[in-house]
Amino acid sequence: MKVVGLVSSPRKGGNSEIAVKEIFRQLPADWEKEMIRVNELNINYCTACYACVPEGARCRQKDDFNFLVDKIKEADKVVIAAPTYILGCHTAIKMVMDRLISLVADYNSFKKADCVIVSSYGYGGWEGMVKEDMQLFAKKLHLNVIGHEVMLATLPGDTVKGENLEKITGLANLLINGADGPIKPTTKGIECPICASTGFQVNPDGSVRCMLCSVEGKFMHGPGGLRFEYDPEFNHKFTNKSLDDHVQYLIDKKDLFLATRGEIKALQAEYAELDWWVTPAPKE
Ligand SMILES: Cc1cc2nc3c(=O)[nH]c(=O)nc-3n(C[C@H](O)[C@H](O)[C@H](O)COP(=O)(O)O)c2cc1C
Repeated sequence: MKVVGLVSSPRKGGNSEIAVKEIFRQLPADWEKEMIRVNELNINYCTACYACVPEGARCRQKDDFNFLVDKIKEADKVVIAAPTYILGCHTAIKMVMDRLISLVADYNSFKKADCVIVSSYGYGGWEGMVKEDMQLFAKKLHLNVIGHEVMLATLPGDTVKGENLEKITGLANLLINGADGPIKPTTKGIECPICASTGFQVNPDGSVRCMLCSVEGKFMHGPGGLRFEYDPEFNHKFTNKSLDDHVQYLIDKKDLFLATRGEIKALQAEYAELDWWVTPAPKE
């Protein structure tokens, strides 16, 4: 059994690193273990060149992106830990996530390994959308998220103290024993039954859309209060069909770009003449 731990935090010996190490410590000794510090990999921004469209044409950038992807493909289990940075995921997670557009419908080349996530935040009530960002990151890596803990942890080591340590132990047990049901909620709020998101768009007509997987439904009154009801046949954004549709959409748009390139260039030229750019003075 091979388990890979991703840590994305500039803080060495910080909450995310200690959380992954504690989970690893609780896993069977004969499991092969590897940790990767995502923020120290050489990962460039996505340049929006669309050379990775159609699917199968890999990203052309020569950096550590494929190293990371190949490690995930090899892993039987994955642990991801990263802090909340300004109400969302850590910056390096976002940089990798953008690059994963090159693998949107590459789901068959991944094992869909079981994955647990630790999201720490330091200021009570300011975890923001970190859960949604991290769920999306794992889904874009075609992982099967079986557990996610969002925990208040400020000083290094807070992730392995008190009730946080119990949560960490729970995640380790999930990796060892597997999940026996849907992912446990991390909030008191209504969570999307498909992707665990807490972010919903509520429309004036009463319809509701999950902002992560895009499933549509309604909040209905029931004995336990409000619940989210939806059509289980809804083609939300994480079905294989949806992923295939997304790639087809990208291919169609790329074809349209190539067919109308002259027109687009003429329009761009008109705007290129408007030049208000400023840049910093060269450093001495
Ligand atoms: C740049 C920066 C932004 C942060 N933004 C938030 C935030 O929006 N909400 C919050 O609760 N904590 C925030 N924190 C605190 C960290 O999420 C928290 O301390 C976390 O446990 C650090 O994990 P680490 O030790 O693995 O880096 C921020 C910290 C830094 C350095």
